[in-house]
Amino acid sequence: MSSAPAPWWQSAVVYQIYPRAFADSNGDGIGDLAGMQDRLDYIRDLGVDAVWLSPIFPSPMCDNGYDVKDYCDIDPLFGDLATFDALLAAAHERDLRVLLDWVPNHTSSLHPWFVDSRSSRTSVHRDWYYWRDGRDGDPSTPPNNWLAAFGGRAWTWDDTTSQWYLHLFLPEQPDLNWGNPAVQTAMHDTLRFWLDRGVDGFRMDVIHLIGKDPALPDAPPEQAHTNRVAYNDYPGTHPMLRGIRAVLDSYPGERVMVGEVNLRETARISTYYGNGDELNLAFNFLSLSAGWDVDKWRSLIETVGRDLQPGAWPTWVLSNHDARRLRTRLGGSEQKARAMAVLLLTLRGTPFLYAGEELGLEDADVPPAHALDPGGRDGCRAPIPWTADPPHGWVGQLPPLPFSPASESRSVEREVADDNSMLALYRRMLGVRRGSPALQLGELELLACPPGVLAFVRRCAGDERRVLLNFTDTHAPVAVESSCDIEVASHDARVTGEYDGVVPPEAALVLRPS
Ligand code: GLC
Repeated sequence: MSSAPAPWWQSAVVYQIYPRAFADSNGDGIGDLAGMQDRLDYIRDLGVDAVWLSPIFPSPMCDNGYDVKDYCDIDPLFGDLATFDALLAAAHERDLRVLLDWVPNHTSSLHPWFVDSRSSRTSVHRDWYYWRDGRDGDPSTPPNNWLAAFGGRAWTWDDTTSQWYLHLFLPEQPDLNWGNPAVQTAMHDTLRFWLDRGVDGFRMDVIHLIGKDPALPDAPPEQAHTNRVAYNDYPGTHPMLRGIRAVLDSYPGERVMVGEVNLRETARISTYYGNGDELNLAFNFLSLSAGWDVDKWRSLIETVGRDLQPGAWPTWVLSNHDARRLRTRLGGSEQKARAMAVLLLTLRGTPFLYAGEELGLEDADVPPAHALDPGGRDGCRAPIPWTADPPHGWVGQLPPLPFSPASESRSVEREVADDNSMLALYRRMLGVRRGSPALQLGELELLACPPGVLAFVRRCAGDERRVLLNFTDTHAPVAVESSCDIEVASHDARVTGEYDGVVPPEAALVLRPS
């Protein structure tokens, strides 16, 4: 029996670009689309398959673009529709797919829909957002006890119409009322706008929040924060996801939707894959807190294997624009970060690689006076150092955020020239992965091994790889049944040859049967 080939996004590695921090073409200190296009060869040579661009739509940038003013245009900081089309074509020429970051839960308060909505109680768009009187008719008390993600309550009083409006994030990010069919239609149209232009899919921001109980009930007091309350996981979200999926599926070419489902239980996340008719992929952020802990990793791998429903393809992430960079979380250790790079790219599932991880960047130290982000996440959003000498390839105005530590030695220029750099390791690992059906699509079996070591085998159609990760600071003897060659060694990207039965301290090895 022949089975259909796996969709591209199962074997792919997705590279996340934070546009303003990536590469600047016009000297204003802000990364832009033309700058990105100039760096496409670097991205292709790295060996990834797709890029995901954090939001590039017009925005007042209260939340760095996650407050969208127009879903069908490009913010002038980044370029325009013509530069986007050029970037997309240039990416496709290099076999790189392009995913956009779609922000469906809320708009900017400057979006014309909200401007109209707040203008009068009878405006056309009034019911596109959540407007309510105060609790028990008391204007001084918000309608419920929900809190906003960046602090304070999730309601803001608006004098114009003397009602409160809901925002699970900043007051400048009012929540759209997805219960209103007109909102669904309008938002579907924004997807079509980009699908028609040829984008390959979307990362969908806080997608688990779009459905809300229309009664907007109080959360139990101990759960009143956005990351825990019941409205985080309202069942009404699922039909909405099916509607969105139908839009994507009406296009040829396996367009993908990967959702940010910011829940802490894999079994709950699993429901967002629906019956194969909701998300294609859902982020699982538990890996962001597994740290350098063999037990946590083993248990997480077991949980993902057990609690994701059959057919739900896993995802893995070690860093993104919302979290401290991996290396920073590992106390700056290059060895540990290198071992984790091998882990990210050998687990069963689609890896998401945050730009700058391949250089081993740490968070920048951002003095409070220079902070830009309401959520305190500036450190991981520092500019990419392209050249060794300051200002590291950023010609013209300096980027608003400082560079991360050791940007000279961790610049692309230096790392490209060093065959044992973090970049060299990533390139090697990505190349090996690309050539191995087992690493791309195979089953994963955890293996018994000495304490402090994580060992698993990946198998697919006669192809096999073993991965051994030694979390301890001493050499770990780990026997294998038959002779194997080292294909990748995290501690030294140049090492190959027969495996001698010992994993070096804080190192990961990829072994291939010899
Ligand atoms: C997501 C984004 C984050 C943003 C928030 C609100 O969590 O990743 O950066 O602040 O949604 O849109």
